[in-house]
Amino acid sequence: MKLTYLGQSAFHLEFNGFYLVFDPMITPNKLASNINLEDITSDYILLSHGHNDHVADAYKLAKQNKSKIISNYEIVNWYESKGIDGHPMNLGGKTKFDFGNVKYVQAVHSSMLPDGSYGGSSGGFVIWDDKNCFYFAGDTALTLDMKLIATTCPPLDFAILPIGDNFTMGYEDAVHAAEFIQCDKIIGCHYDTFDYIKIDHAAAINEFKNAGKELLLLKIGKSILL
Ligand code: NI
Ligand code: MN
Repeated sequence: MKLTYLGQSAFHLEFNGFYLVFDPMITPNKLASNINLEDITSDYILLSHGHNDHVADAYKLAKQNKSKIISNYEIVNWYESKGIDGHPMNLGGKTKFDFGNVKYVQAVHSSMLPDGSYGGSSGGFVIWDDKNCFYFAGDTALTLDMKLIATTCPPLDFAILPIGDNFTMGYEDAVHAAEFIQCDKIIGCHYDTFDYIKIDHAAAINEFKNAGKELLLLKIGKSILL
């Protein structure tokens, strides 16, 4: 599995021969000026919720690559009305795609589409196949519901958690989230993009280290094999 960080909460993942893109907000992100949207491959685009810092480039990317959008019912409907193919889900539901299984799980956050349309409930994704399982939390507060992921899904190999505070949990709460989901390898997202969410990288990494866990803060454009 090859994971590439595209800034904010945007990731590109090669998974079972398919290209998955999460929460693409690339062209408005000054920190991601080294990324060309035109170069991004995608079979599926997974949107955690409707806020613009997660969906800004979803339409363009979906058109460019003829990708299918996976998100909640309201968001998929909104994109379908613009001619984009989608697969609607809602909280607690799981389904099997050609690349693997997806469960759309609870996030404690809000959701609104860029034109003010109702964005449904904010969520995250747990994705797995026979060998691997990971959690992409989207934007969320720390919530006890995260314990359900450890109870109802296969053991996690890694998790992508927001750590920037202010709009989501900060890194201190993210350590508790990592404990709730029983995962030791965390990839941070949703930090540094705006003044509100600037963090001290060394302090964040240390907070996880003190709890016996690893926090990876990837450079934008950098890929890792998982
Ligand atoms: Ni948000
Ligand atoms: Mn956000």
